[in-house]
Amino acid sequence: MLKVIELFAGIGCQREALKRANIEHEVVAISENDKYASSAYELLHGKVNNLGDIKKIEKLPKADLWTYSFPCTDISLAGKMRGFNKDSNTHSSLLWEVQRLLEVAKASDELPKYLLMENVKNIVSKKFMQLFQIWLDYLHSLGYKNFYKVLNARDYGIPQNRERCFMISIRDEDAHYEFPKPINLTKKLADLLEKNVDEKYFLSEKLITCFTDMKDRHGLIRGLRFKPKYMSSADYAFTITTHAGYRPTDNYIIVPQATKDGYALAEVGDGVYTNRCPTKRGVVQKSMIPTLKTSVSDIGVVDNDKDKLISIRRLTPRECWRLMGWDDNQIDKAINKFSNTQLYKMAGNGIVVDVLEAIFNQALFEFS
Ligand SMILES: C[S@@+](CC[C@H](N)C(=O)[O-])C[C@H]1O[C@@H](n2cnc3c(N)ncnc32)[C@H](O)[C@@H]1O
Repeated sequence: MLKVIELFAGIGCQREALKRANIEHEVVAISENDKYASSAYELLHGKVNNLGDIKKIEKLPKADLWTYSFPCTDISLAGKMRGFNKDSNTHSSLLWEVQRLLEVAKASDELPKYLLMENVKNIVSKKFMQLFQIWLDYLHSLGYKNFYKVLNARDYGIPQNRERCFMISIRDEDAHYEFPKPINLTKKLADLLEKNVDEKYFLSEKLITCFTDMKDRHGLIRGLRFKPKYMSSADYAFTITTHAGYRPTDNYIIVPQATKDGYALAEVGDGVYTNRCPTKRGVVQKSMIPTLKTSVSDIGVVDNDKDKLISIRRLTPRECWRLMGWDDNQIDKAINKFSNTQLYKMAGNGIVVDVLEAIFNQALFEFS
């Protein structure tokens, strides 16, 4: 039986993946200080020994595997990138609490054999590699062999473009670990969408007005079947007169982006960025959603509205959870117990379960 501790446990994506990978395990403790996440954790997995704020934990129970997907806020490109220096007092510097607890475990000869880290891809970027190397060297000094790799959820069965850095550390100098090979994506974003989604999820006319300033390419224009009254065709014809996308039979949304053409076409079932599009590339993701964050305010999905017109809407919480690899049976246990804000946050903070399951399936653990 593998004894497990989930640090920064969230809703327990780690545990869900162990279950799915059929690895016999027992979660002996978790550390999670958010009351909503820890209550969702218990709804999903049952009662757990939550030790709360990691800073207040003196010693962890003995275990074989510690997981630590520590806060990425200060490492992520989406944040201010204040980093995770030991004395920086940032959220991401909570990593060094793991070091403190490893030191305690070392003193009583209880170092876990396995460690699993997850964080944003930026942790191995030029900006942070030096600091990450310090962490790698530290683990090495404790006897761990480290294997890390950036994996994208879309390569492991889920239509979300989500790149994350995973690291397996094994306390055995002869250890070897190979990350799972990518598989073909057979699921499309549309397969994970709900039917008859409440109107409140559709972007308002006001928001669309804001997107439709195509003169200076700030925003989106609803294509074809919808021609906003406040625009003349000259306003949006600057790029599209020779392209598909303006004929009455077409069914696109034209999204400005920072490419030579200046726009991309989005169809029903595509994911789109909905803010600062003209400054970005890849604003339309075919049959896929961009990375889910802790709120869904910057992304949308192209869908038909109640009048069967092409439109853009926010994802529902259930869709977000599905896009993090949760199945409806599990989602049903938590979905009505929290506000949408909390549900989005839990999803965006998580790890795509399918990716972790694939990692665990790679003949990793030896235990008795
Ligand atoms: C990136 S998320 C990890 C989510 C997790 N992997 C999951 O499966 O849902 C980081 C988590 O650390 C938690 N956290 C932040 N500060 C903490 C602290 N001082 N002690 C324990 N947990 C903390 C957050 O509430 C959040 O749930």
